[in-house]
Amino acid sequence: MTIVAIVPAAGKGRRMGRDKAFLDLGGTTAIERIAHSLLAAGVDELLVVRSHGAAPLPSLAIAHRIVLVTGEGDMADSLRAAESQLDASCATVVVLPVDHALVEADTIAAVAAQAMRTGTAIARPTFRGKPGHPVAMRREAFAAIRSPGIVLRDLVRMDWSKVRDVPTANAWVLADLDTPQDLESARAALAATPGSVVEHMRRHRSRRSYSPAPLMPGQLDRLVDAARYASTSSFIQAYAVVAVEDPVRKREVSKLCADQKHVLEAPVFVAICADLHKIAAACSQHGQTVQAQSFELFLQATIDAALLGQNLALACESEGLGICMIGAARNHPIELARLLQLPASCYVAFGMTIGTPTDEPLTRGRMPLAGVLHREVYEAARTATVLVGADVSMRDWAARCNEQGGYQGRLVNLDKGWTDRMAQLWGERSSYVAARANLVAELKSLGFDLR
Ligand SMILES: Cc1cc2nc3c(=O)[nH]c(=O)nc-3n(C[C@H](O)[C@H](O)[C@H](O)COP(=O)(O)O)c2cc1C
Repeated sequence: MTIVAIVPAAGKGRRMGRDKAFLDLGGTTAIERIAHSLLAAGVDELLVVRSHGAAPLPSLAIAHRIVLVTGEGDMADSLRAAESQLDASCATVVVLPVDHALVEADTIAAVAAQAMRTGTAIARPTFRGKPGHPVAMRREAFAAIRSPGIVLRDLVRMDWSKVRDVPTANAWVLADLDTPQDLESARAALAATPGSVVEHMRRHRSRRSYSPAPLMPGQLDRLVDAARYASTSSFIQAYAVVAVEDPVRKREVSKLCADQKHVLEAPVFVAICADLHKIAAACSQHGQTVQAQSFELFLQATIDAALLGQNLALACESEGLGICMIGAARNHPIELARLLQLPASCYVAFGMTIGTPTDEPLTRGRMPLAGVLHREVYEAARTATVLVGADVSMRDWAARCNEQGGYQGRLVNLDKGWTDRMAQLWGERSSYVAARANLVAELKSLGFDLR
């Protein structure tokens, strides 16, 4: 039995001055945000109600169908049209108008779960006692919308004994996105620290432009301290972080990292190192020699460093800072190790710029989840479809980037999807393979005598 969400989005958004499905909510359109929230809430299918001639929607994260209505379709007409399209398997309907794009997944999941409980037909979220959206209904209760003249409110009023309120802390269950002012406050709310860690993760964007403002006193120490609570293989803690703030040294770092402007501009560059030095010292203290030639130990140290690095990125972003990871730190590993005076058996796995961001890049999206999440066994049969999805999602992002002037100052080639780019990056003519041809030898000379 499935849960189907209906998103009425047939209006022209007159007061807003544009189609609300395409409102830009900090790099994601309203309809994309809704699709992600519904997917995360466990909804199986989305029916988007659109008017004839409305612009096509971008690709959405969740299985969806478009239901067309004539004119602008008021809410009740939109719901009637969607109701006629429900499959027999649909047991629960969630109505989420496009205006309520900021409602979080946990609210949707809580309301849908309440509607499925025995004795309940309809569940609606409340904020400070006032009911809002989305309204979740059992299929039978929703079917009453078929009668002409009936509106959503009437369904709720039919049998109060079967209506359950779900109190939430999310004010967006009440607020519409009706006017440009509503949109402004929605964007401001989205730019503030999100309540949920998952939502915060989904908002990540690499930032490549920074104000010169330094971090707050003690902030970096606090963030790195928190970041190192990442899991660590056998508790080896095989990492080190070298923070560079001195402008002269930062300029040298930037030169070694392909002259990337953001390395120079960010108030802090951190080198995230895979570090066997302390383990070597520990072994030596006990009359042993660290087995730095072990590929397993090299992997453990590199994985430890990556986990710390990603934790640090999230910690920074949670406090309003922006980051960009810098793999170009492996362009000249020996020179960088020398500049940072790294001891033997320590290399910079990657760098990271940290600071107050001044750019507003679009979120980049990712390939379809079906290419990443498999159940029980890896389903390689899906790959062809996933690649199509990856290309579509990359082209969507490129088109949206170009609308606002391009990516990193350049227009993105719309002809190239993700697959074209991978073939170019890692096929036979890979410039990365050529540029990093000496990496193993360089790592050897840094004390990782890999065999
Ligand atoms: C290990 C690693 C190294 C990276 N190196 C660089 C780099 O040298 N320069 C840069 O501008 N971005 C770099 N990136 C950022 C990626 O380009 C970026 O994460 C990717 O395009 C996805 O975009 P998003 O982070 O905005 O979602 C790196 C990312 C990772 C994970």
